[in-house]
Amino acid sequence: MKLVDNKATLSFSNGSPSVEMPVYAGSIGPDVIDIRKLYAQTGMFTYDPGFLSTASCQSAITYIDGDKGELLYRGYPIEQLATNCDYLDTCYLLLNGELPNDKERGDFHKLVINHTMVNEQMQFFLRGFRRDAHPMAVLTGLVGALSAFYHDSTDINNPEHRRIAAIRLIAKMPTLVAMAYKYGIGQPYMYPRNDLSYSGNFLRMMFGTPCEEYKVNPVLEKALDRIFILHADHEQNASTSTVRLCGSSGTNPFAAIAAGVACLWGPAHGGANEACLNMLEDIQRQGGVSKVGEFMEKVKDKNSGVKLMGFGHRVYKNYDPRAKLMQETCNEVLAELGLENDPLFKLAKELEKIALEDEYFVSRKLYPNVDFYSGIVQRAIGIPVNLFTGIFALARTVGWIAQLNEMISDPEYKIGRPRQLFTGSERRDVKPLASR
Ligand code: CMC
Repeated sequence: MKLVDNKATLSFSNGSPSVEMPVYAGSIGPDVIDIRKLYAQTGMFTYDPGFLSTASCQSAITYIDGDKGELLYRGYPIEQLATNCDYLDTCYLLLNGELPNDKERGDFHKLVINHTMVNEQMQFFLRGFRRDAHPMAVLTGLVGALSAFYHDSTDINNPEHRRIAAIRLIAKMPTLVAMAYKYGIGQPYMYPRNDLSYSGNFLRMMFGTPCEEYKVNPVLEKALDRIFILHADHEQNASTSTVRLCGSSGTNPFAAIAAGVACLWGPAHGGANEACLNMLEDIQRQGGVSKVGEFMEKVKDKNSGVKLMGFGHRVYKNYDPRAKLMQETCNEVLAELGLENDPLFKLAKELEKIALEDEYFVSRKLYPNVDFYSGIVQRAIGIPVNLFTGIFALARTVGWIAQLNEMISDPEYKIGRPRQLFTGSERRDVKPLASR
């Protein structure tokens, strides 16, 4: 954080003394005004619901330029990482700040791949859930339960504990997601295999059975790996901020990540891919491409409560770069599976075309986000719709843990404790029941 040769002065029309506040510059992106002493100096808070203008922390992990449609992990453009690296390279980068060299890469891959098994007790924990429970409900429970199993990595203030927890979480998430899926469909759990890649192993745990050998399809393996890379981190989004806020109390890391899983579930965040596919299926049932115009009218009608899911973003006011990469993967996967004429893909492209030309979307700078195409890819791979957000959680775990660890190592970090503008009743006395 660099102090710049600039100061902000806040003055008041009622004659209260004005205050000067320092301004800091990041390496790229907007400068920030340091308002930490504002309350002490003025007795006032700032008001910023939804954090539209508030930087809650300093971070060196991920940078988004929403106007350009640019996403950088540790300075590297997402397009280059998605084409030149795999997910575990990306995890190493997010956690350590640099891409691994050959030896570091081999060691890291081995470390993660060798920790994919979960404590056998987890199976019994799973049995407490109804078979038709939403996988995100199950995952929130399972991830939280990890804190009860791994007592040597629960002290957030110990760097070695944080390192071990990071590896455990990245390694075990695919196993937990696959277990949640297998439990739901009543099939036996598949133990991980260390001779497969991270994504290949996940595909086998999901779709293999003990009855026969499972052969990993390299196109689907690559597609899944790309989904993981594209979802690995996204700076201070709702779930990451949740993890930071939760972890700021010093709680154990597995519990903080479970809070992130819970937040991600919502349809405005990680649940958008599920909501998007449900939306496409709904339009398809009502007549498909011919009904697109009618559907768009509903989206534009503020009273309808209908949104075009997979469109719009708090930060991107341009094409989400992940959506472009996902569209490319969509083409590859559908071609591999002979589904080039998939009606939902056609429908999605038609919706995108209309939206990109429509004044409603253009004037509000609404573009497709990553979730617009990720659902179609996942569905083609065979992943059930209600597990889409679970896949997102699996991939985002590295981002959450990298951000959590960054926060704990930051000397400026404090427990998160927002303030409020109170609009409720002033002090009053409880009346006896008879006179209320
Ligand atoms: N369909 C129709 N109108 C929309 C949409 C949409 N998908 N998104 C935003 N708008 C309108 C919104 O109604 C508002 O209109 P007006 O100015 O007339 O009131 C305007 O565009 C600005 O939107 P906003 O709600 O103020 O923007 P926000 O930054 O608070 O919300 C968002 C961002 C992602 C919650 C929202 O765009 C949305 O709900 N999109 C659909 C859900 C979705 O795809 N979410 C996935 C986000 S990407 C994955 C992730 O990183 O988690």
